[in-house]
Amino acid sequence: MRTTLELTLSSLSTVGDEFWFEDPGYILARPFLQNAAIKVVPVPVDENGLMVEEGKRLSPYAKFAMVTPSHQSPLGMTLSLERRMALLEWASKAGSWIIEDDYDSEFRYQGRPLPALKSLDRNDRVIYSGTFSKVMFPGLRLAYVVAPVSVLARFQAVAYNLNAGCPYLFQAGVADFIAEGHFSGHLKKMRLLYAERRAVTQCVFQQVLGDRVRIDLRPGGLHMLAKLGDHEDDVLLADRAREAGLAMHPLSRWYINAKPQQGLLLGFANVIDEKDAMRIAMKLKRSMS
Ligand SMILES: Cc1ncc(COP(=O)(O)O)c(C=O)c1O
Repeated sequence: MRTTLELTLSSLSTVGDEFWFEDPGYILARPFLQNAAIKVVPVPVDENGLMVEEGKRLSPYAKFAMVTPSHQSPLGMTLSLERRMALLEWASKAGSWIIEDDYDSEFRYQGRPLPALKSLDRNDRVIYSGTFSKVMFPGLRLAYVVAPVSVLARFQAVAYNLNAGCPYLFQAGVADFIAEGHFSGHLKKMRLLYAERRAVTQCVFQQVLGDRVRIDLRPGGLHMLAKLGDHEDDVLLADRAREAGLAMHPLSRWYINAKPQQGLLLGFANVIDEKDAMRIAMKLKRSMS
């Protein structure tokens, strides 16, 4: 994501441009954005995703809006159709760019896969960004951008001098993997496997941790959110969990201006089975006591 942002901002931004950023929003993008010569404007989210009207109030002429429409990062809701249309309309009128961060939409366990925001983009305002970090593995460092034709020359010129990180040999390997049909088979297989792991993890964690957490499943993604009561300290709990060998993100850290909710973000992709889920949940329970 960092390289995609670097490519996009180096191609299209000027010093002082305002940049809508979901609040809470993707924490790992923040250090790069805070060091860039732009002004980050946190825009709150609700059950329908990014609050476009709030964005318009806070920063009507922002040059960029970064969104996670399929599976809001970190809360997991989907950007509603009404909000999608409102966002596109605003971007067209204001001449702004929407950066669609579509990081894990391939993994959807209920209903049909969602079309990308980019598919509704009649006025060429959306820069679509995908990654192989979730569908393959993060160490590959391979991502891709679908940009409007009007900006291609600028993107190409910047990309030419950018160290994109993924060696050509790996890129060629992934291209063959797709062309030979293995990728779609891999996705189908992993969707079933992750659906099973997601259900088992939620059930066991809820059973072991009881009223202390509330895990509402979202239709997609590779992580779930265990919500905690307002009196809990998720940063402290995540620190204790880390000491016990568990990697969980405290939700409150993902907020900038909006009132932080307490919760733990749990990846479930590597929870092998019920026994494994029980082992992890018990460890967490001990570190919470
Ligand atoms: C919200 C979000 N965007 C993008 C990415 C992909 O980042 P990268 O391609 O740098 O691994 C991730 C990966 O976890 C993510 O959670």
